[in-house]
Amino acid sequence: MPNDIPEPQAVDSPITRSVIFIVATLSAGQDHASAVRAWCADIGALVRSVGKRVPSGNLSCVCGFGSDAWDTLFGAPRPAQLHPFREFGPSERRAVATPGDILLHIRADRMDLCFELATQLTGRLGDAVSVVDEVQGFRYFDLRSMVGFVDGTENPTGREVPEFTMIGDEDPEFAAGSYVLVQKYLHDMTGWNALTVEAQEHIIGRTKLSDIELDEGVKPSWSHSSLTTLVENGEEVKILRDNMPFGRPGAGEFGTYFIGYARSPAPLEQMLENMFVGRPPGNYDRLLDFSRAVTGGLFFVPSATLLEALAERDPQAAGVNVSASEPPDDASASASASASASAEPHQEGSLNIGSLKGNRQYE
Ligand code: HEM
Repeated sequence: MPNDIPEPQAVDSPITRSVIFIVATLSAGQDHASAVRAWCADIGALVRSVGKRVPSGNLSCVCGFGSDAWDTLFGAPRPAQLHPFREFGPSERRAVATPGDILLHIRADRMDLCFELATQLTGRLGDAVSVVDEVQGFRYFDLRSMVGFVDGTENPTGREVPEFTMIGDEDPEFAAGSYVLVQKYLHDMTGWNALTVEAQEHIIGRTKLSDIELDEGVKPSWSHSSLTTLVENGEEVKILRDNMPFGRPGAGEFGTYFIGYARSPAPLEQMLENMFVGRPPGNYDRLLDFSRAVTGGLFFVPSATLLEALAERDPQAAGVNVSASEPPDDASASASASASASAEPHQEGSLNIGSLKGNRQYE
């Protein structure tokens, strides 16, 4: 019945000019947890109130929760594949995990809209959370990343978007939800700009001016494009990205805030493993010689319908044993993942694309 289909959050927002990314940690104590739960029911109304003032401004907000926060705030049931961010790569080139319980991805065509919504949302949370990272990003010329190449070209489009980003029958209680991975990168722009355009094009795997993919015979296996292209059973597995440049030129800060949405953490983690460890190991992404990840977090994005309903959840009242709802191996996997650690302990090397077609269940 169509009315039973949950409404997703604005994962598939149109491309906008401005963004604010906020990562916050949850303060200890039941009062703070209750405040955050109540806030979940307010988000939609706040987006409507602020957004209505500039109808052409395309204001949207996506809210996600980290693994530990989910247990504290909502208890069981929990999203089947939610776990702490898994680190990848050797110490000199590492995808690091950093603290984060709540992610806000606020997008609009004008920064004043993003700013006002961020003010309203964080103001209502008060001391229930501490904001640990806050980044204002901007669209750079013709959708170019900080490193000067057009970014987002190979994103899924049309019907591919829900197919690759929305949970379906594999986890019915969390249908129309998504997983989202964020990383804040800082670039060595002096080093990058010292390269020839041809060398940069080999690193990205596309031409700089015209944004055309390099021919297979020319594109190195260690290019960013090669290592982030995943194929399973002859079909490409995509993620939905909306990276944004940010920075403070006067302070020498030049960054890219990476954000990728997917139906499961598996393709996101496989891409990270390919980039940081290499495919095969050692054949890593040379973009990382000029880019350092300084944050990393994995979050679950409930459907908008569930987000509102979560306000009524009370793990204490339900008598949920929070620690018992932890998956067995994940916390330690996050802390101690080695350079060669597998990205997919749950799936034994398979991206499980069959499940995207609804004919296989996630394990
Ligand atoms: C330093 C941070 C990053 C920068 C500046 C960057 C930039 C780019 C650029 C310029 C492209 C080519 C155009 C396009 O198709 O979008 C691209 C492609 C892509 N990137 Fe990134 N990226 C970054 C990090 C990541 C990370 C962390 C992931 C995954 C976890 C990722 C996944 C992808 C994917 C899937 C593609 C499309 C590949 C294809 O189908 O050809 N990127 N990126």
